[in-house]
Amino acid sequence: MLMEPYRIKVVEPITLTDRPEREKFMAAAGYNPFNLRAEQVMIDLLTDSGTGALSAAQQAAGMGGDETYAGSPSFYRFRAEVEDLTSYPHIFPVHQGRAAERILFGTLLRPGQISLSNTHFDTTRANVELLGCEARDIPCEEAGDIRSDHPFKGNIDLAQLEAFLRWGNVGQVIMTVTNNGGGGQPVSIDNIRRAGEICRAHGIPFFLDAARFAENAWLVSQNEPEFAGLSPRTVAREMFALADGCVASLKKDGIVHMGGVIALRDAGLAARCEQALIAGEGFSTYGGLSGRDLDMLAQGLREGTDAAYLRGRAAATAHLAGLLTDAGVPVVRPPGVHAVYIDAGAVLPHLPAELFPAHSFATELYLEGGVRAVEIGSLMCGSVDEHGVLTKAAPRELVRLALPRRVYTQSHLEYVAETAASVMKRVDELPGYRLVDSPKVLRHFKCRLEPVERSFRSGGLVGQADREPLAGFVDVHRDGFADAVDGSAPREGKPYSPVS
Ligand code: F0G
Repeated sequence: MLMEPYRIKVVEPITLTDRPEREKFMAAAGYNPFNLRAEQVMIDLLTDSGTGALSAAQQAAGMGGDETYAGSPSFYRFRAEVEDLTSYPHIFPVHQGRAAERILFGTLLRPGQISLSNTHFDTTRANVELLGCEARDIPCEEAGDIRSDHPFKGNIDLAQLEAFLRWGNVGQVIMTVTNNGGGGQPVSIDNIRRAGEICRAHGIPFFLDAARFAENAWLVSQNEPEFAGLSPRTVAREMFALADGCVASLKKDGIVHMGGVIALRDAGLAARCEQALIAGEGFSTYGGLSGRDLDMLAQGLREGTDAAYLRGRAAATAHLAGLLTDAGVPVVRPPGVHAVYIDAGAVLPHLPAELFPAHSFATELYLEGGVRAVEIGSLMCGSVDEHGVLTKAAPRELVRLALPRRVYTQSHLEYVAETAASVMKRVDELPGYRLVDSPKVLRHFKCRLEPVERSFRSGGLVGQADREPLAGFVDVHRDGFADAVDGSAPREGKPYSPVS
């Protein structure tokens, strides 16, 4: 049965727009959905991060928040909740996930070292590379087949992990649960356990990037026989027990608008992180959050691990994936929980990677129905030269439809599927896009593009290299973040090398 296990007490109007208006908005945004304003979007599936709806109980908890600078009871309530889930003794709030990454990696990694992961999320990669280190993804083989229904395609490749650790120079291993960059696929407890054993045998710290730990726990309870029938909370505890600590954005499974955490076993490492926390985020009992945030988080972590809530959310995601499949829109299988990923590369064969096919599909979803999604393809993950021409394509051209928690109803999802079905009917007519401006780091967030004419497409990319180089352009995949950010050479140690 598909039914949202909550009812709605507070509503926000959606501004309805028509296609001519949206065409103007999109052109003014430089054909980059990140540049749109919220009121120009009808259904916002850009991210599930910080976009959830608070419950009445969370609002009430927020009213009980204590804003004392040091030693607030809100912190102790937050800490008790995280400790109950993770069993880690050292727990620090931070304002969001990337702050946790910056503090932990900055404390742990030395320039030239390698960070291994099933897949680093984009900010995780950025925080590794900013330290002059290399972020290397080693997903399991099954992850490569987006049509396969293997239940744990988020797993890390254990043989490669072992080989890397034997070879040396690895500073940390970080397991992303669920694997956001890899199609939102879960990681099995068996894989986490084995990866942890390999790391321990080589004396390398093993952490979870636990942004979607509850959704991972739900999928484990559904698909890993050893854990069948156990509550998501019990599974989550098992998962955390297998690692040396975690960094997490709590804007996802904590169902809050802002918040994150670093939680660690090792007292020495925790003490060093605490110094960086106080210097950069705030005192250890608030870490950049207000007391009311911490109380809403403590309550959100209870609600986010509730089985009825997770069952309803997983069913809604599967429903959207099913509707899309019925409409002939190919999606990454099996659907995870936080998002459905459309395989745009498969339906736009007339657009080569150079013309960013997944970006084209995402743009058309907006123009057609006001639905905002995000490209996870060559625009986000490929390499481009100083003319904005693609030099290395991403392995896949995907469009992510991320589902905010408790925000959209079944009829909203049906509208999204209808919009995608309309796009599919005209898929042969969709234009490609080319970059006209690109920032130095994290290109996809702020770049500007323009549609590419048919005549241009039929003539291929000849002539593109004659264009002026893009203003201020530095390809992060070639030159490294450290270089791009402050113009200095990468820090001492092994120079940055591209991820192969
Ligand atoms: N790790 C993962 C797996 C994430 O998905 C994110 C954020 C972060 C770390 C960083 O956390 O945003 O709180 O600083 N993901 C969002 C997304 C932005 O849209 O997937 P943050």
